[in-house]
Amino acid sequence: MILGRLNHIGVATPSIGDSVAFYRDVMGAEVIHAPFDLPAQGVRVCFVDTPNTQIELIEPLGEDSPIAAFLAKNPAGGQHHLCYEVPDIEEALAWFEAKGAKVLGKPRIGAHGTPIFFVHPKDMGGVLTEIMESPREH
Ligand code: CO
Repeated sequence: MILGRLNHIGVATPSIGDSVAFYRDVMGAEVIHAPFDLPAQGVRVCFVDTPNTQIELIEPLGEDSPIAAFLAKNPAGGQHHLCYEVPDIEEALAWFEAKGAKVLGKPRIGAHGTPIFFVHPKDMGGVLTEIMESPREH
């Protein structure tokens, strides 16, 4: 597997609106994209650009959202996952499975419109890790 660039850092939040205000007013972020729903993943997301990566703000869509439990434990929100790009999602999937790492679910289309999967933090040094196929234009 070829490990690519850090695409984004996922940050869970109870309110994308409040977090957008924080990144704009306190962090000085100048490029904040429009939020959108990812119903298949039970989340609403919003990307904040920094010069070398993005912050992915994630808010639960409903009570059974995968991040509802995270927010129950961390009511103010917090760092949720890291996302790395790879050139070939199937090759990366086979790689992690061969390492015995627990892949969560099947590859699915992620927030950037390319296939992604998550790997359980217990096999990733405690870090929930998202693996994402690079967009073609990179
Ligand atoms: Co993500």
